[in-house]
Amino acid sequence: MSDIRNIVILTGAGISAESGLRTFRAEDGLWEDHPVEEVATPQGFRRDPDLVQRFYDERRANILAAQPNPAHAALARLDAEWTGDLLIVTQNIDDLHERAGAHRVLHMHGEGLSAWCTACDARHRWTSTLRDAPPCPACGQSALRPDIVWFGEMPYQMERIFAALGRADLFVSIGTSGAVYPAAGFVQAAKDSGAATLELNLEPSQGSRLFDETRLGPASALVPEWAREILEHARGA
Ligand code: APR
Repeated sequence: MSDIRNIVILTGAGISAESGLRTFRAEDGLWEDHPVEEVATPQGFRRDPDLVQRFYDERRANILAAQPNPAHAALARLDAEWTGDLLIVTQNIDDLHERAGAHRVLHMHGEGLSAWCTACDARHRWTSTLRDAPPCPACGQSALRPDIVWFGEMPYQMERIFAALGRADLFVSIGTSGAVYPAAGFVQAAKDSGAATLELNLEPSQGSRLFDETRLGPASALVPEWAREILEHARGA
């Protein structure tokens, strides 16, 4: 482990589960109540914009009411103390990584507390409803949508992500089912560039067999333990 300099961490809904935010594919998952096609596709938004705005109003309110958990705090500490490259690529639209203090965070699926103006392309921090079609603070037009990457849309900053995977010595996947691409393919890209791979998850993900090591358990226990381990090893290297 001593020759680890550059780390890429992928997080999914599981890292925020213990903060009270619902995951997607569990029995009580979000996609059980709201078919993806209705609330997480451009077609769904065109068909029933009010339903989609209500869905993301609910997400926004839940995010604001949630607090970071020990897993977010451990990654924030690692971010602060790790002297090599480190990138937290999150599929999550919550801001719990940032509220825990992490800085090197990339939201590949967008952000629940951001509104995107489809008229002038401006993005704004947004913590209230979008249901009443408020005017864009930049251009004044009522063309704001959730700044979320929906199914069928291109995730954000893919070039930057694959450049980081190409330089990675270690890829760690935390709290994701490995059900959705391109994120589910990151482990293979990391392996192709010679990185070691570790999965921290409540249950084996769909890509578990691709990882060098899988540790099963809640993120609030596994992530602090792993972060301590990697920092101590780097000091002792
Ligand atoms: N600690 C660690 N892992 C957990 C915990 C926990 N406390 N609770 C749940 N998990 C794991 C589950 O075992 C599961 O493997 O987190 C994973 C959550 O999987 P999903 O609900 O599929 O969420 P995610 O992998 O983030 O989904 C990826 O799919 O629908 C899209 O855009 C959405 O970003 C999302 C993407």
